[in-house]
Amino acid sequence: MAYELIQVRTEADKVGVLTLNRPKQLNALNNQLMDELGAALKAFDADEAIGCMVITGSEKAFAAGADIGAMASYGFADVYKGDYITRNWETIRSVRKPVIAAVSGFALGGGCELAMMCDFIIAADNAKFGQPEIKLGIIPGAGGTQRLPRAIGKAKAMDMVLTGRMMDAAEAERAGLVSRVVPLEKLMEETLGAALQICDYSQLAVLAAKESVNRAYEGGLSDGVMFERRLFHALFATEDQKEGMDAFVNKRKAAFKHR
Ligand code: CAA
Repeated sequence: MAYELIQVRTEADKVGVLTLNRPKQLNALNNQLMDELGAALKAFDADEAIGCMVITGSEKAFAAGADIGAMASYGFADVYKGDYITRNWETIRSVRKPVIAAVSGFALGGGCELAMMCDFIIAADNAKFGQPEIKLGIIPGAGGTQRLPRAIGKAKAMDMVLTGRMMDAAEAERAGLVSRVVPLEKLMEETLGAALQICDYSQLAVLAAKESVNRAYEGGLSDGVMFERRLFHALFATEDQKEGMDAFVNKRKAAFKHR
């Protein structure tokens, strides 16, 4: 598939890198862009050679939200009946391999929600996060009111969603929205480093780890602990567990079969 609004490349033949590419609109997210992003993520997910994906934007904007111009004339009947605007966004969550968001500049509205749909966020020191939908007379529509409180707690989430204010990278790290903050010029180096590290591990363990952390994020404790235990036990049926533990005991680097 040819892509117009995203750029797609691989790094070291192992990491799928997707760059949002609507610079004049600060990467505002429209249906075409989200269709392309979903298709490219699915293609990487199905590609045996790929172990991890990275979604990024430009220095100025990861994404400034859903495309306001495209939404402006919609009425309730249009968006509800057609399930418009965010109907194709959940594709991102169906991807089984890890997806890292490398965020510089604005991650607002749908841009912040897109970043939160990724498995973790590495932010440049110029990143700004926010859910400013309230200023447009709407509320977040791609999971913002659900994922933000889980990520940063109710008080800060209410503050962000009700005032529409932006949070800088330092505050986002303190609040737990992002996993690391790095200087802007190091953003891709640091993110690709993390992605390549993940690619080197047993993919069976990586998929199980992602699935299990998501269970904690989305469900209750007892169910999550049981789910984790079952996956933990199951991994003892793999060659990669034998290899990983044998390599440690014999002080050598593990050569995982499933990567
Ligand atoms: N949709 C469409 N176009 C957008 C956009 C958006 N979300 N955000 C920015 N743009 C466009 C601007 O209209 C402008 O286009 P023109 O040059 O043609 O006028 C261009 O990008 C550059 O933007 P600014 O001139 O405004 O740049 P700035 O540096 O002065 O401000 C900004 C940057 C603070 C991000 C500002 O553009 C802004 O507030 N954008 C809107 C952010 C927003 O409200 N996002 C939420 C959208 S709703 C949503 O996402 C719903 C959901 O939950 C799914």
